[in-house]
Amino acid sequence: MQSVRTILNLSQPVTSSPERQKLQEKYQFQYIVGQDPKLLDILQTIGRVAPTDAPVLITGESGTGKELIAEAIHLNSRRKSKPFVKVNLGGISATLFESELFGHVRGAFTDAKTDRIGRFELAHRGSIFLDEIGELDLSSQVKLLRVLQERSFEPLGSSKSRTVDVRIICATNRNLEEMVAKGTFREDLYYRINLISVKLPPLRERPEDIPLLAEFFMNNLKEIYHRPALQLSPTAVQWLRTLPLPGNIRQLKNLVERTVLLSGQDRLEVKDFQINLTANTSAPRSLPEVGTLTLEEMEYHMIQRAMDFHQNKVARVARSLGITRFALYRRLEKYGISYDADDV
Ligand SMILES: Nc1ncnc2c1ncn2[C@@H]1O[C@H](COP(=O)(O)OP(=O)(O)OP(=O)(O)O)[C@@H](O)[C@H]1O
Ligand SMILES: [Mg+2]
Repeated sequence: MQSVRTILNLSQPVTSSPERQKLQEKYQFQYIVGQDPKLLDILQTIGRVAPTDAPVLITGESGTGKELIAEAIHLNSRRKSKPFVKVNLGGISATLFESELFGHVRGAFTDAKTDRIGRFELAHRGSIFLDEIGELDLSSQVKLLRVLQERSFEPLGSSKSRTVDVRIICATNRNLEEMVAKGTFREDLYYRINLISVKLPPLRERPEDIPLLAEFFMNNLKEIYHRPALQLSPTAVQWLRTLPLPGNIRQLKNLVERTVLLSGQDRLEVKDFQINLTANTSAPRSLPEVGTLTLEEMEYHMIQRAMDFHQNKVARVARSLGITRFALYRRLEKYGISYDADDV
């Protein structure tokens, strides 16, 4: 009986405002939780453009749901029964880029022992998701532009062109317009990937969705860990709404899961979450390797972490960082970290 109820819980959408319901009837968005007007606008847009072949650029801070939206575009398109191929351009060097995207023939370079099919070919008739496109170096940008213009490419080491029919979806948490202005991102490529653009709001700009998301994650955890009695206390839900959550939805999801696992309680209270919050920020716990962070980035992470830990109590944050409140305000403004005006 219990498990039946749990399953029902899972399959019932947590969100059900009339606007959201209307979208639900037209499109497949069941895994995307939220009913903030900004999110509903986005769902409306992607629902409308999904069936076309228009390229879509998805931007937004880390953890705001860019990949989820990219998948939703594919699922609501006529290509849904064809492949959805993800490529993370963040970790790819210029040489690897070509072999990864366009494939290679045997002998194209020393390690090319066999032919390899590239991601563009794998995505034929489906969609390709080019994640972290802002990380691509200029020489790879040229190569990508060519495929997007001509829909054809040659695998490394081959002179025979191949043609593909692929829908392009890109994502980045960088500001591409700024990069274009600085000359680090090609303007022609920018216009080609950016016919339709979707900007996901940070979670702190849609706090009303935090309780819905927390509830959704709890319901999933009930199922995954066979703990049907799990619940959030109402004060805990209210408290979660006030968190700055720089890691956005991913951070909230991790925080809820970590707290469920570590607290051992079925009913989660504010204190259970507080214990887990500090270990949950996106900043590293010990000092990072030389060359991985600038001093300024370290400062940003440390301030963010102290703000999380002291729940935005500016006076305490300043004390813990060994600076005056005014020095802290200056930095909060500089880094665009939100704080409680009441506390000023
Ligand atoms: N609206 C939502 N409803 C439910 N879960 C969500 C929603 N948005 C994001 N998530 C979940 O939050 C996590 C992060 O989302 P996702 O990976 O899409 O973010 P992202 O913007 O691609 O992050 P990054 O920039 O770090 O790659 C995922 O587990 C995803 O399923
Ligand atoms: Mg992502």
